[in-house]
Amino acid sequence: MASYLQIADDEKGHELELFCVPKHYENDLERVIIPHGLIKDRTERLARDIIRDMGGHHLVALCVLKGGYKFFADLLDFIQVLNQNSDKSVPLTVDFIRLKSYCNDTSTNSVKVIGGDDLSSLTGKNVLIVEDIVETGRTMQTLLSLLDECNPKMVKVVSLLVKRTPRSSGYRPDYTGFEVPDEFLVGYALDYNEYFRDLNHICVLTEEAKEKYKV
Ligand code: PRP
Repeated sequence: MASYLQIADDEKGHELELFCVPKHYENDLERVIIPHGLIKDRTERLARDIIRDMGGHHLVALCVLKGGYKFFADLLDFIQVLNQNSDKSVPLTVDFIRLKSYCNDTSTNSVKVIGGDDLSSLTGKNVLIVEDIVETGRTMQTLLSLLDECNPKMVKVVSLLVKRTPRSSGYRPDYTGFEVPDEFLVGYALDYNEYFRDLNHICVLTEEAKEKYKV
């Protein structure tokens, strides 16, 4: 049974004034729900769990862009530290895929591959998919069926966040950082119409900000 850190539905989070957030977002955020330091600490442990389970062979880490890029970079840094301080180590290579399904705060119901590496190079490989958030699960299920056609040796999925939502298809990743309430979250590369990726903490967006940045 996969373990994760659960953020409760009634979690109040932390006042913005207690943390450093970019001036241009100060009026757009309700509160900090996961501070950057806690994200890094949890990521360090995920790296350890992944290497314990998958560390026997060459590992290909597949980053799901754009939202996954910060978590991917930090997770791989931690895996590298483990690799360079242990008697055993495995080659780690990287691939990227860009998928898109959200506009404003709503899933468009169609997951599109809009760029990235050719997945056929993953045939016979041990692949770790690195994602920022699983909400409905549609993005990950689409990617997993695309990958399946390429016959990788093993596929595992790590997602920093999993949202508790009635819109979920029931899909759960192999490794989860945090389970979060059904609120629109931004920061640490999670965006709202491309804004807020340049924010370190994971925060709750105000209703006013959803209007302000609507497309
Ligand atoms: C977000 C997120 C996940 C996906 C999760 O991507 O990064 O890939 O939605 O949602 P789901 O489980 O409901 O499918 P988005 O389409 O917003 O693209 P982005 O990563 O470029 O922000």
